[in-house]
This record gives sequence, structure tokens and C-alpha cells, in this order.
Amino acid sequence: MTDWKIRRAPTIHAEIKVPGDKSISHRSIMLAALANGTAQITGFLPSEDCLSTMKAFQQLGVKIERVDETTLIVHGTRGKFTAPSGDIDCGNSGTTMRLLSGILAAQPFRSRLVGDASLSKRPMKRVMQPLAQMGARITAEGGDGRAPLVIEGGELNGIAYTSPVASAQVKSAVLLAGLFAKGTTSVTEPEQSRDHSERMLAWHVAHPRRNGLTVSVLGGQSLESRDFDVPGDISSAAFWLVAAAAQPGARLMVKNVGLNPTRTGILAVLIRMGAHVNEMIESSEGEPRGSVEVRGTRLKATTIGGKEIPNVIDELPILAVAAALAEGRTVIRDAKELRVKETDRIAAVAMNLRAFGVQVDEREDGMEIVGGCPLHGAEVESFGDHRIAMSAAILGLFSEEQTIIHDTDCVATSYPGFYETLQRVVKSKK
Ligand code: S3P
Repeated sequence: MTDWKIRRAPTIHAEIKVPGDKSISHRSIMLAALANGTAQITGFLPSEDCLSTMKAFQQLGVKIERVDETTLIVHGTRGKFTAPSGDIDCGNSGTTMRLLSGILAAQPFRSRLVGDASLSKRPMKRVMQPLAQMGARITAEGGDGRAPLVIEGGELNGIAYTSPVASAQVKSAVLLAGLFAKGTTSVTEPEQSRDHSERMLAWHVAHPRRNGLTVSVLGGQSLESRDFDVPGDISSAAFWLVAAAAQPGARLMVKNVGLNPTRTGILAVLIRMGAHVNEMIESSEGEPRGSVEVRGTRLKATTIGGKEIPNVIDELPILAVAAALAEGRTVIRDAKELRVKETDRIAAVAMNLRAFGVQVDEREDGMEIVGGCPLHGAEVESFGDHRIAMSAAILGLFSEEQTIIHDTDCVATSYPGFYETLQRVVKSKK
């Protein structure tokens, strides 16, 4: 288990790139595997989560060549897979388990999906229920909708599903199953969640339709193979964006980052907090992408809630750090979903911020953070959660004394190379 020691940073002046987008990398393999030929994926995120998806599809008989760390060639099988010889290990990845459930529900064989201790505690009923309505037979061996999941695949019928949660994983699992179902399958969400699956389906010429908060696909289609370039992950860039935004005089440029409007809520929040943010979209092919420049300032508190939450859900731990560095009381609400992420992120963030001397009032659906006080160094846990570890590292850059973060190996889940970029960014003094 690796521990990190972090010291206060000088003013940041840096230009960086971040690794490929995690959500898009998962989908790039899945959709390429469902398509009718060979496709090259560039900019792929070689993180543990995405490698779980890659291995899962290899187990299902899909030939995937790794040209280099971030380039894959996927030989699509038109959605016809072979029965896996053993369990499919989804590791820590909720996206792998939930989206794969949708695809496997339609395969004419039995599969068993397992995950690590954290994934085995996460709620799977949210995908099991709609898939069962489509005719899928899925059993949760962990009890109460928890993995391992045993899926006896078979024929599916299209449904019109209204999801109680704004979850891209639920929406995507149902839409992917819908590709195999009889008739049309639609999903309506309470709020718009990230739309990568819809865009990726369109890229592969599956013609998904959107009508307000409803997306639908027609079953029985064959997807066209097309090369795809994955942009950098704005959720990874978020750590550096917050670090620079909260440092008066800092300047940071992030190049080739995904700027899908269902993911850029963090930029809007930082602007509200007073940061100078310049977003430059350079291409919109497949997924919008471009550069983001941030100039730092003394941040001020804000309220984050309502419709905005699905758009910033993965950034809330680092936005809580921004709040700790901002003048005033920041309120995060309507974010109950944080309790069922890789760890209970409300409890973990509250505990870690307090360890640095920040006043935090925990709420069932969020927290209130009183920012702007000097931070002392702290010794904190990652709780096995990548985003908790990286958020604590950024807070450490603003603390008087040394910070120690335990058990940081989990960062490989989404951001291999985070620590190396950290070293570079803190040496970036003009
Ligand atoms: C993801 C969707 C979100 C997000 C997760 C990735 C995806 O989860 O938090 O990190 O790739 O679809 P939910 O669908 O549970 O909101």
C-alpha cells in the first residue's frame, strides 16, 4: 500500500494533459465490440477500471489488440459473444458491472459478474429491475441487490423505463440491452446525466433519439465500426483546475480535455466561486473537446444542488476541497448518490476535511463547508477511493504542514500518472 507525503505548493503555472476519459473509454470498447468490424481506439485510459472492461470483453471472445498503452484495436463481433469460461471480474468498476449487465442480459449463455469489496457493496437493483422488466434473469448472490450477479441471458423485450435516479450507468445498461430487444427501448431520467452512451451509439450509427429527458433506441440493429479518439478526462483535470483556481496568481492550461456539456458543470461552479475560466472547444466530432485555462483567485462560497448534481457528481469531492479553500459557507445538497459511490463520499470527505481543520456539517444528501480558515497538515485515509485520495492530495498543497495520505494505490482506478503530474505541477513556479 503506497502512502503519499504532500507539501505546500508554490504558485502553479503549468500546461498539462490528462489521461483519457474513463466513462468514454469503457464505452469505446463496449460499442466497438458490438459493432460489425475492426476499429482503432486512441487516447484510451489504461486505468484499472477500463482494463477490467477490456479483459471482460476478451473473456467474451472479443479480440482486442493493445498497440500501445493508449491505443487498442477492437475486432467487433456484431454483439455475438462467447460464454466466458469463468467469472468476469469487474474489479472496482461500477460502469463495467452495470453496463455489461445490460449486454449480457441478451446473450444466450450464463455469466457471473464479480467485483472487489467496494463494488460488492454497491446497489445493483437499479439495473436489475429494468432489465428484469425486459425479460432478463439476473440474481444477486450478495443479497439485497449486491454482486456477484448471475445473469442467465435470453430474449428481451423493449420497455419504456422511467428511472428514479439520474444515472448514466442505469440509462446505458437499459439502452445497451435495448439494442438486442424486440421493438423500441426508452429511458426517461429525472435529470439529464452524462450522455456519452447516446453520443457513442450515434457515432456507431445506431440512431438513438432524444426527446427531453427521454432517450430511445431501436432493437435488432447492427452497429457500424468506426475509429474513436477518446478525449482527456475532465474529472481528472478537475483536481488541477481546483488547485489553480484557488491559488491567487496561478495559471493552468489543460489541453485536449473532454468538454461535453453534461460533464463541464465543474467549470460553471468554479466561475460562480470567482475563478477565471476560459473554455475553448476545438472539435465536436464524437465528443466535444478542447482546452481549459484557469486563472486563480481567492474563491468564494457557493451552493451546489438540484439539476447540476449529475453533471458534477464525480467532482463533488474536489469541489468540497474548493469549498474548504473558499471564503464563506458552501452548501452541497441533493447529492445522496455520493453515499453509494466507491465509498460513502459524504462521510469520507467530511472526515478528511475535518482532519485538515475545516468545519464541515454533514447532511444526509450533502454537506455544508465553512471555508477560508488556515489548514494544518493532516494524516488521512483514501478509504480505497481514488477521488478521495486525489482530493486530499490537492488539499495538502494548501496546508501549512506536511500531509500524509494512506493507501493511494486506488488512484490507478482512474488516473495512472496522477502523482507524477502532481510533482510537475508543484515545481511549476515561474
Ligand atoms: C458513470 C456514471 C456516473 C459516475 C461514474 C461513471 C458512467 O455514475 O459517477 O463515475 O460512466 O456512466 P452513476 O451512473 O451511478 O451516476
